[in-house]
Amino acid sequence: MKLLESIEQAFRNMTDPSPYDLRQAIQQLELKEEEVSSYVAEPSYLPYGRKVLFQSEVVEVILIHLPAGRETMIHDHGASRGCAYVVEGELTNKIYELGAEGYVDESGESVVKQGQFLYAPEGMIHQMCNTGTRRVVSLHAYTPAMSNTKVYHTYEQVLDYVI
Ligand SMILES: [Fe+2]
Repeated sequence: MKLLESIEQAFRNMTDPSPYDLRQAIQQLELKEEEVSSYVAEPSYLPYGRKVLFQSEVVEVILIHLPAGRETMIHDHGASRGCAYVVEGELTNKIYELGAEGYVDESGESVVKQGQFLYAPEGMIHQMCNTGTRRVVSLHAYTPAMSNTKVYHTYEQVLDYVI
């Protein structure tokens, strides 16, 4: 079965999945680098490539391509929660906490290796970084489909704009 068909079959009947259900569904896909690579999008207006592989009101499945040396904006996922699976490469996930006046402070980071999962609980503010020398490709499943996501800045980033 083709990848997109397998993904649709795994996610289309979900009604109110937990992040753990999403993880199970991703795990059952038994994703391989070769199989996923034809869907990898090159970055255009964002620092990373993004391709939606499945979307319903309940679930959104996205393939992210973070080239070596790149990082995402610091962001949340609105009211959605989900999980991600690293298909290729090694991801550094930085977690932030919302502080005074809407700025965020880094509160921790973890490395997510190829074949490992990353949970994104509701309200999590994070940034994904690729500090390695090869690309990172990861598959993300969120429920419900994302809306009202926000981007955040650290105080140091804001200082960069002000002279
Ligand atoms: Fe995210």
